[in-house]
Amino acid sequence: MSTLKGQVAVVTGGGSGIGKAISQQLAEQGAHVWVTDIQEVSATRVAEEISQKGNKASAYRLDVTDAAGVRGFFEQVDQECGRVDILVNNAGIAGNPSLLVNMKDEEWMKMFDIHVNGSFYCLREAAKRMIRHNYGRVINMSSLAAVTSLAGFAHYGAVKYALVGLTQAAAKELAAYQITVNAIKPGVIRSALTEGILAMAEERLSEATPVKKIGSPEDIAKAVLMFAQPDSSFVTGTSLVVDGAFSLMNEMDRVMLDALQQ
Ligand SMILES: NC(=O)c1ccc[n+]([C@@H]2O[C@H](COP(=O)([O-])OP(=O)(O)OC[C@H]3O[C@@H](n4cnc5c(N)ncnc54)[C@H](O)[C@@H]3O)[C@@H](O)[C@H]2O)c1
Repeated sequence: MSTLKGQVAVVTGGGSGIGKAISQQLAEQGAHVWVTDIQEVSATRVAEEISQKGNKASAYRLDVTDAAGVRGFFEQVDQECGRVDILVNNAGIAGNPSLLVNMKDEEWMKMFDIHVNGSFYCLREAAKRMIRHNYGRVINMSSLAAVTSLAGFAHYGAVKYALVGLTQAAAKELAAYQITVNAIKPGVIRSALTEGILAMAEERLSEATPVKKIGSPEDIAKAVLMFAQPDSSFVTGTSLVVDGAFSLMNEMDRVMLDALQQ
């Protein structure tokens, strides 16, 4: 099925992990995907892999924190494609864990710059174009850290909650133009970003997840595809947790399941 045939999609942080899987799956559905990343080499590699499969992709080095660079990028997409149908604000970092009292200004600001400012710059430019065509699908990558913010990651939690706020306001402002705006809150997903934590605690995290596995980037890409469909027109302003039910579990559940599922 090529449900996105003829559409133009922009993915930020598309050079690795979740963004790579999203780029691949959008392209498989027929979209022309602009794989953007601050790491030009990775963006190029992903776009080449997509093209080799006979699907459509272009690579672009884009640092989402550079407002002028983001404007220039969307102007180039305009020139080459004339439209933007799908934006996935995915670029991100985990940052270094630190107690609030020790958190450095630079760490805090960098986190906001990439996740909040970067998503805003891209959304603003994409929305202008989507309004012109009276159509759009925007997906912002939030996190389980916006279900409950993690100790040691106040900066990460704060930006992922901010993305939910951005999603809700944008959904209301853009609904009149048939543009939907949604967020995804992935649980622990295997990628470069979680290498450290998985090296420490993979078995424990997998065991604590009712579906008994660590999520894959493809699991998140499937949720993106759902929001990106043309007929998902009534789904807007919402956030979808994709975590194998990890965040639903509490100690009482474990007691009951241990007692009943022998
Ligand atoms: N992996 C997880 O468990 C998980 C869970 C919840 C949310 N997320 C979110 O998913 C998104 C993707 O993460 P991932 O796990 O695929 O990590 P990843 O490190 O594999 O990919 C992140 C990509 O973003 C790019 N990037 C970083 N800064 C950038 C910038 N300034 N401009 C453009 N690109 C930039 C990186 O080069 C990299 O290719 C992030 O927003 C992350 O916060 C990940």
